[in-house]
Amino acid sequence: MNKKLSNKASIITGSARGIGAASAIALAKEGSHIVLVDVLDCTDTREAILNVNPDVEVLTYNIDIKERASIENVVRETVDHFGSIDIVVNNAGTCSRLNLEHITDEMWFRDINTNLRGTFLFSQAAIYPHMKKQQSGKIINISSISGIMGGPFSEGKGNSEEGGRSGPAYAASKGGVIALTKWIAKEVGEFGINCNSIAPGPIETAITEGMNYQLNQAIKRMGTSEDIADAVVYLASADYVTGEVLKVCGGSAIG
Ligand SMILES: NC(=O)c1ccc[n+]([C@@H]2O[C@H](COP(=O)([O-])OP(=O)(O)OC[C@H]3O[C@@H](n4cnc5c(N)ncnc54)[C@H](O)[C@@H]3O)[C@@H](O)[C@H]2O)c1
Repeated sequence: MNKKLSNKASIITGSARGIGAASAIALAKEGSHIVLVDVLDCTDTREAILNVNPDVEVLTYNIDIKERASIENVVRETVDHFGSIDIVVNNAGTCSRLNLEHITDEMWFRDINTNLRGTFLFSQAAIYPHMKKQQSGKIINISSISGIMGGPFSEGKGNSEEGGRSGPAYAASKGGVIALTKWIAKEVGEFGINCNSIAPGPIETAITEGMNYQLNQAIKRMGTSEDIADAVVYLASADYVTGEVLKVCGGSAIG
């Protein structure tokens, strides 16, 4: 149990499965209360959390993080219930694989609005006024190495959602998340708030199903959701780290 995380209140978006679920479970193991947020049913994650630590409380919200009013409600009710909001993991994301030639406006706006605007909305709602008033808080934004290097090479086709590499809207949204992270870090350090990003490489989850990664990297395996959750726990308790992008990518984006 990590003393710094014990009895804290953590919101994790996109926590019905994958990296979000693993992060929620890992934070609960360290003693944090958990707020699950997803459009999908979160029952499995909730049960897994209570298995690893029956002493924490779990709240669940089935909302779409593209909707401002829903996000503001989650944050308000979290503070009402737990008395604070200590950690926000902006993890929910979508990934269109259509290439520049084929991507539509609809796909563009879905990825940008979910990945980038969702991160903006949750960060704004948590920081102002709650974290600022508390003079503490940790924002952890899950970006991607796509936001650093424009997407990995894969052998998929760019004219289909089946197996193509992550698309231009995804890369742009994740690059935006990285810039937003640095911007927020500079703004909120004086309020005792840290804002960092984790940039995962290829991780075996629903989002990467069917993608044929070449694994041209130092550590020759796909990562696991737990590999990312370890980094989430670290950043949730790191007080003198802010504005950083921690690549957890098996050495696929060294440099
Ligand atoms: N898996 C990878 O290789 C990889 C690599 C880099 C970055 N990431 C990022 O990690 C994060 C988690 O992805 P994952 O790999 O666990 O995939 P995933 O698809 O298993 O998880 C994403 C979750 O976000 C939820 N979600 C999507 N849109 C939402 C919305 N509008 N409102 C609420 N919830 C929504 C989904 O329902 C799902 O549960 C994403 O931001 C993704 O871009 C993943």
